[in-house]
Amino acid sequence: MSSIAMTTETTVSHAANIETTRPFFSVRDMHAYYGESYIVQGVSLDVRQGEILALLGRNGAGKTSTLRTIARTDNPQMRQGEIWLDGMPIHQMKSFEAARSGIQLVPEDRRIIQGLTVEENIALAKVAPGNGWSLEQIYESFPRLAERRTQDGVTLSGGEQQMLAIARALARDLKLLLLDEPYEGLAPVIVHEIERILHSIKPLGITTIIVEQNAVAALKLADRAVILDTGEVVFAGTAKEVLDNTELRHEYLAI
Ligand SMILES: Nc1ncnc2c1ncn2[C@@H]1O[C@H](COP(=O)(O)OP(=O)(O)OP(=O)(O)O)[C@@H](O)[C@H]1O
Ligand SMILES: [Mg+2]
Repeated sequence: MSSIAMTTETTVSHAANIETTRPFFSVRDMHAYYGESYIVQGVSLDVRQGEILALLGRNGAGKTSTLRTIARTDNPQMRQGEIWLDGMPIHQMKSFEAARSGIQLVPEDRRIIQGLTVEENIALAKVAPGNGWSLEQIYESFPRLAERRTQDGVTLSGGEQQMLAIARALARDLKLLLLDEPYEGLAPVIVHEIERILHSIKPLGITTIIVEQNAVAALKLADRAVILDTGEVVFAGTAKEVLDNTELRHEYLAI
């Protein structure tokens, strides 16, 4: 995989190889439970390669649960449905296999490992098999992390921790990036920097699903949008359609 700061020529040839007709990532009628609590209630969604999908909805709508089910965590438990990534049946996998197949979940708490430096946090992610970005590629795209490479990861600012969490995902074989509330608590200038990074990995064929309370920011970044309500999809379309639809915005997003 190439870094963000690649030459324009490489970007173009890479982009030209991206299949844009069939969905690269597809969820079909996915149902998931916490014990007997039925939470993800038949979710289906499609994303093309290199697209950003905003997954939105009110508090408790099931956004985090949907991301966790896609990443194949044990909780919630998926009991029905199919998940396909680039022709691979993810629904038959455990979470470590889904991660090996290129699905990387960055949870809300970011999971930076205490007692490890920035560089050690990245190096640990690189232990996973597959071709992720090198340290050099990461530092080129995240100069803030390069400056702080010897600092304990948990002492970074919130924004820097979010960058480190994304960098760790890039250090692995990344095909589908799942971000849960990446902008939470971050200043606008840091949000812009993360937006720039997410935008720049699109031509590399990396597909992103972003869950965000800041729906306007997520919709401005995203190509497509899915709105969830009580574990069901109530809207699927382009991000622009949501931005242009006052009723939809008021009803489900309070914006
Ligand atoms: N571990 C759990 N055990 C039981 N129920 C859970 C668990 N985690 C979440 N839930 C329930 O599942 C529903 C969906 O929660 P989820 O966290 O997926 O929503 P969300 O859309 O991410 O909300 P928010 O915007 O507040 O983050 C909620 O009713 C929640 O109480
Ligand atoms: Mg959540």
